[in-house]
Amino acid sequence: MRECGRAIVLIGFMGSGKSAVGRALAARLRLRRIDTDELVRGKLGLPISQIFERLGEERFRETETEVLHGLSPDDPAIVITGGGIILRAENVQLLQRVGTIVCLIADQETLFERVGRSTSRPLLQTPNPLGTLRQLYAVREPLYRAAADLEIDTSGFSVDEVTELVVEKLAPQDARSM
Ligand code: S3P
Repeated sequence: MRECGRAIVLIGFMGSGKSAVGRALAARLRLRRIDTDELVRGKLGLPISQIFERLGEERFRETETEVLHGLSPDDPAIVITGGGIILRAENVQLLQRVGTIVCLIADQETLFERVGRSTSRPLLQTPNPLGTLRQLYAVREPLYRAAADLEIDTSGFSVDEVTELVVEKLAPQDARSM
């Protein structure tokens, strides 16, 4: 296990459960919750869909990286990230510095059931959202795997079950009292 900061960082595709599991983990471990999408929204003063529509994806990605520069390795927080955070190598390095990276995994059908009809995911507002999801997944899957210290399959598990799995799997590697 590499030396890293005190945070637990959740990465994974849209719909993998990062937000729900992150909330539950923060409550379970009594840690602060930091959500990079919320920080980006706060910095730009717009909802994510509006950021993509009015300012463009590139501006969203730049702001995402800026937000990561503000995270501290000394802060034992739960960091929830947006699904595209692994697209920039710089982001992965910044996240590896702040904490242990846990990747939440789900099969593509499960992901589509969870987010396929969501109107708050700008990247899936296409004529064929399942096809788009599959294309994005193919590009991103190796990036999630390369970035993660730990992978947890969430398909068929409840939020509470996944939360417990994360706690169990991190416990031996982690001096935090759980
Ligand atoms: C994105 C995922 C979203 C959000 C933005 C871009 C992506 O977050 O950051 O819409 O590129 O996969 P969630 O993973 O929480 O849906």
